[in-house]
Amino acid sequence: AITGLPPTPPMGWNSWNTFGCDITEELIRRQADALVESGLRDAGYRYVVVDDCWGADHRAADGSLQADPQRFPSGMAALGRYLHARGLAFGLYSGASAQTCTQYQGTYPGSTGSRGHETQDAATFADWQVDYIKYDWCSSDSDHDDQVAAFTAMRDALRATGRPIVYSINPNSGVSGSVPGTEFDWGGVATMTRATNDITPAWSTDAGPSGYQGIIDIVDAIAPLGARVAPGSFLDPDMMVVGIGDGLTAAMDRTQMSMWAMMAAPLIAGNDLTQMSAQTLATLTSPAILALDQDERVSAGRPVDDDPEIWSRAVGDKGLVVSLTNRSDYPRTMSVSLASLGLVGDERVVGVDAWTGNEYRAARGELSMPVGVADTVVLEIR
Ligand code: GLA
Repeated sequence: AITGLPPTPPMGWNSWNTFGCDITEELIRRQADALVESGLRDAGYRYVVVDDCWGADHRAADGSLQADPQRFPSGMAALGRYLHARGLAFGLYSGASAQTCTQYQGTYPGSTGSRGHETQDAATFADWQVDYIKYDWCSSDSDHDDQVAAFTAMRDALRATGRPIVYSINPNSGVSGSVPGTEFDWGGVATMTRATNDITPAWSTDAGPSGYQGIIDIVDAIAPLGARVAPGSFLDPDMMVVGIGDGLTAAMDRTQMSMWAMMAAPLIAGNDLTQMSAQTLATLTSPAILALDQDERVSAGRPVDDDPEIWSRAVGDKGLVVSLTNRSDYPRTMSVSLASLGLVGDERVVGVDAWTGNEYRAARGELSMPVGVADTVVLEIR
């Protein structure tokens, strides 16, 4: 591992989920300003990641990557200086293909990708003072050895610059019928690896694992993979959709935050920070949920007794956190047995909800509490 990289999950903001290709340097600066003014930066959201469509569709005469001259006329080094002057970190997107993923959309030609140019492009990123690279796949060919070679080449090129750069990979995009980020453990290759397909602001979709996925689809896909998570090496359940669109209730947003924290996942917000409601800001900055996500033990949670609604996560020295998500479409009382948590015989157990501060005392060998529709209670066990 390179010194200077975070041992706990990276936190920040990414342009894709709200803005797609409609980005300019002015828009990124306004989002960065809002990150600072809202208090999100001080809550830990430091990385500002410019996703696809910042780059021109061809290289400069010397072969180097260049910014789209219309969208980013001041250039990427200038944007990096703007971010660093505000105590933020600078993230950029590229891909292990000739052109990035928007090549598939028909509306934008796709920026130049980095395949075969890893050394030169990593040097360019370091020169621009980039702190985070999101490196996509964007090819229907998903031969495993080829993927390993391509993602390792960029890892090594980034390392060779000597600059600490978070390396975020997505082996899944463009690939149909399988999710390579789930099938293989990429922990030695990247800081964080996408283990699912693209998120969409929905509770659940019926698109299956190779289409857009909702919040609980992603939770279920990640559930068996928690053993791969370790300090400095994370599974990426994709960027958050908290505060995006009309399809998600405040409870669903709380569930996403809760479960991303239970998974020890990177927290990359994707909403328009200049139009954020007080509710959205409160959800994104819950101190107890952020502390859970950033717990130094970096041990991912997992379902208790294979129940997808109930997860536990080991934290700190010997702490335990339990989440209960109500997936029914009516409010109900949920229970977890002390036996299933390994706490049998200890009737003094109290669970304190990270969201509300409500305390629930064990009775008859169980912790029970009301949970609203699509909401999640996150109990710190004392
Ligand atoms: C893929 C990724 C997305 C986004 C787009 C950009 O779909 O999974 O997160 O980066 O490419 O084109």
